[in-house]
Amino acid sequence: MDSRSSIGIFDSGIGGLAVVNTISRVLEQENLMYVADSKNFPYGTKTKNQIAQFSERITRLLLKKDVKAIIVACNTVSSIAMPLLKEISYPVPVFGMIQSGAILAVKTTKNKKIGVISTPLTAASHAYKKEIRKLDDSIEVFEIGSQRMVNLVENGNKTRERAYELVKGKLQSVISAKIDTLVLGCTHFPFLDKVVKNVVGKDVKVVDPADELVLKLGEFLKLNNLINKSLGINTRKFFTTGRKEEFLIKAKLFLDDFPKEVHKLDV
Ligand code: DGL
Repeated sequence: MDSRSSIGIFDSGIGGLAVVNTISRVLEQENLMYVADSKNFPYGTKTKNQIAQFSERITRLLLKKDVKAIIVACNTVSSIAMPLLKEISYPVPVFGMIQSGAILAVKTTKNKKIGVISTPLTAASHAYKKEIRKLDDSIEVFEIGSQRMVNLVENGNKTRERAYELVKGKLQSVISAKIDTLVLGCTHFPFLDKVVKNVVGKDVKVVDPADELVLKLGEFLKLNNLINKSLGINTRKFFTTGRKEEFLIKAKLFLDDFPKEVHKLDV
């Protein structure tokens, strides 16, 4: 492992491509490797043990491919399985989404009322509430989950009328709670951010944990002398456990700089 090694990123499907977009924008010189576990999508309806098992296998596969850091670009894995992943000692750091989302939300809120929209599993784990309260225990946190919003994005519907109605219905309770900050606590949701912003209105700041995570990742690389200095030859490699054609169609919709090829990975 050296500075030219890749940053490994994984998610249950295409949601983590939003994290790829953010890392590509901020740390553009880095080589990236992305795994979409589309065969096992959605994680939001799986058990804790299943999620831990999938994540552990993907983490090991990424390690074999020479990575210098791993990003668990899935809030459900980060909230449900991260404690189990942390018990295993990996040779590279494994970053989850929750702490970054919590830090960003606490920095953003003024009225100390934060909403978090995620998968139902993440919401039920109260991972965000716990992390936010560690930073400031006077903050009120309202967590809501929607698996239908995840499926809507995964199926490629990001702007349709249906999305607006669905998001509006889901966010009604947090709007009534007078939150001033909403965390997109699922990696699929930044692809619905226009719809979400429309629904919550301009007085609510919508925050994406990836914006904080990328800063943390950049700091880690700098501190450990791992910033890739080979300018101009950065690579993006994509793997899916599902159907390659399907991944490419979706990647065209969701990636700023879409790939021409994707490799099949058996998990
Ligand atoms: N994108 C994932 C997350 O951030 C989970 C979606 C799913 O597979 O249910 O939670």
